[in-house]
Amino acid sequence: MMRYANVLGTGGYLPEEIRTNEHISQTVDTSDSWIYERTGIKSRRIAGANETASSMAEIAARQAINTAQISPDEIDLIIVATGTPDRVYPSTACLLQHRLGIKNCIAFDVQAACSGAIYGLSIADQYIKSGAVKNVLIVGSEICSRIVDWSDRGTCILFGDGAGAVLLGSSDKAGVLSTHIYSDGGYEDMLYCPNPQAATEANKHELGTISMRGNEVFKMAVNTLERIVDETLEANNMEKSDVDWLVPHQANIRIIAATAKKLKMSMDQVIVTLEEQGNTSSASVLLALHQGVSDGRIQRGQTVLLEAFGAGFTWGSALIKY
Ligand code: UT7
Repeated sequence: MMRYANVLGTGGYLPEEIRTNEHISQTVDTSDSWIYERTGIKSRRIAGANETASSMAEIAARQAINTAQISPDEIDLIIVATGTPDRVYPSTACLLQHRLGIKNCIAFDVQAACSGAIYGLSIADQYIKSGAVKNVLIVGSEICSRIVDWSDRGTCILFGDGAGAVLLGSSDKAGVLSTHIYSDGGYEDMLYCPNPQAATEANKHELGTISMRGNEVFKMAVNTLERIVDETLEANNMEKSDVDWLVPHQANIRIIAATAKKLKMSMDQVIVTLEEQGNTSSASVLLALHQGVSDGRIQRGQTVLLEAFGAGFTWGSALIKY
């Protein structure tokens, strides 16, 4: 019998502190209107001093587990996507596993920058389809505010903190229809964050903050996402009109609008969270999925297209019958 990965539950967590465009305008040369017009962002959340990727992941994960109505012991695999792990090791997935009181399951992190959650979905889908596991917890959790250069107006306006989670379970009824993930490591210079602890003589001057050639990344993102959307529909013999919801990575409203236009979808069929969350990197797609599901827009049986693009470059999509 064909096995599918079904969405059993979703969860999300946003830290309390709200940092508005006005706040940022007080420290760098920018304005609320510039940020909102160019990005669609008005504010973002900032993690508290005692929060970590694993502490935020735990809150989002527990919500997904509760909604799924399973016991944490029934989880076979935990995948955490993060670029801001609590520690170099153990993995944030291991720390999350312990927080959830689970023993003896598989737990590992995925590092694919903003595409991390889509990578996680793809890995989970392979594990479930093969019959190797039944239930998989995927969490994207990020404290971007700690790796942002708050004096760089080209990047500090974009990013925010948060965690999103999804619990997938094995079923014979259609769930994840296909996933498509790619990397091209030839674009390091366009978007990177150094690891000062592992610096060589050549790059020891670099701080551990994000560097981005925003406009070039923007163009690559638009073109690449347009291609992956076509590929995803073709792989499933579907038309653009078969997609009910677009759940995109939340980097810039203009990138999202370009993908929606390519799909001939109205913005009413797109889950947009970036106005109040900014770009939460690997958390963004799962936070948006959680938003659409919990406010009742995304209904059981509907077809949902998730996509993301990030440093590496990495990119990918997942088509899901919710
Ligand atoms: O999630 C991972 C993938 N990341 C992305 O997808 C991010 C993609 N990039 C972007 O979202 C956009 O490129 C930005 C929002 C970062 C920048 O918008 P843009 O329309 O590409 O602007 P630009 O970089 O071409 O800069 C245009 C002008 C420049 O001034 P000059 O050289 O024309 O005088 C910048 O210095 O805007 C200036 N600028 C700003 N002005 C006010 C750049 N940042 C700001 C700012 N406030 N915050």
